[in-house]
Amino acid sequence: MLVDSFGRVATDLRVSLTDRCNLRCAYCMPPEGLDWLPKPSILTAEEVIRLVRIGVERLGITEVRYTGGEPLLRRDLVEIVAATARLRPRPRISLTTNGIGLARLAEPLARAGLDRVNVSLDTLDRELFIRLAHRDRLHDVLDGLTAAAAAGLTPVKVNTVLMRGVNEHEAVPLLRFCLEHGYELRFVEQMPLDAQHGWRREDMVTADEILGLLKQEFDLTEDDPRARGSAPAEMYLVNGGPHRVGVIASVTRPFCGACDRVRITADGQVRNCLFALEETDLRTAMRSGASDDELAELWRGAVRRKKAGHGINDPGFLQPPRSMSAIGG
Ligand code: GTP
Ligand code: 5AD
Ligand code: SF4
Repeated sequence: MLVDSFGRVATDLRVSLTDRCNLRCAYCMPPEGLDWLPKPSILTAEEVIRLVRIGVERLGITEVRYTGGEPLLRRDLVEIVAATARLRPRPRISLTTNGIGLARLAEPLARAGLDRVNVSLDTLDRELFIRLAHRDRLHDVLDGLTAAAAAGLTPVKVNTVLMRGVNEHEAVPLLRFCLEHGYELRFVEQMPLDAQHGWRREDMVTADEILGLLKQEFDLTEDDPRARGSAPAEMYLVNGGPHRVGVIASVTRPFCGACDRVRITADGQVRNCLFALEETDLRTAMRSGASDDELAELWRGAVRRKKAGHGINDPGFLQPPRSMSAIGG
């Protein structure tokens, strides 16, 4: 098992498959992109599967989420998912994506064993999408969502990051759109994980503000909190249900006390928290011939050192050197 010094057990593994992305969302990276990780440092499909296998067989991992950057940019994604689905005990497998390419890949991924997807969508307005993401790809995202639902990758969840004065007015239309299509929408508080280090607390639209905006149009009642478990999203029934909307209030209502997550970056570093300042290098160990036992022990040590929380609200908070796209959201 992966246990930390506060008694939390990590069962949910998030694996970043690449730090590259085909969008340039303003809250994540600058329009010119970033210095991508050098190719040789990126784990191969075989290396990814070896680590996931160790997680599942020896360390109690039951959920595997592939993220990026943009994981659909990995040509071997279907193969990675298929190999993950062959592990025993079979983990649940999900994907967090910007949706571009999902129109083509939803069906093969579902056949390979992918269970569900979370798709980022910050606006339904084409012009605003271009301004926010610096690419004219809204259509691809919407087609991707349709394909995901058709392929049974459900519940299809949608993540929206609201930015003050930019897309707040999209909150209600986005919820209408998701209700209509049966997608589960979650609004995410913006976190200080952008490559530009430009996050400012005043610009963050808080969970309370988001709920205030939605309550002008919808009747929201809190869903049974016991059903939440360790999920980051607080869920609300819309107009009495059954449809729901969520808020992920990482900053104003941190949920670190219930955290069950551990991460592996695309270059094979264990991160015990999104905001961790230290990483544990499994890639070098693996490439120097470490055994499964040795890798598992390194990984256990990494989780043992996990801090109580992210510290965003503490005076001495330091943003980690890696940004969201290189960590895996
Ligand atoms: P499910 O609810 O299992 O579908 O996953 P999720 O919502 O955690 O995953 P997703 O990748 O869609 O992430 C949604 C938002 O939650 C993103 O902004 C993530 O960065 C954020 N998030 C995911 N995991 C954590 C976490 O451990 N801590 C914090 N603070 N935020 C997280
Ligand atoms: N704060 C909050 N959410 C973010 N995401 C990317 N950067 C940030 C940030 N700084 C979201 C994306 C995606 C998920 C993986 O994380 O929109 O939905
Ligand atoms: Fe877990 Fe870190 Fe996220 Fe808190 S910020 S929930 S400790 S990964």
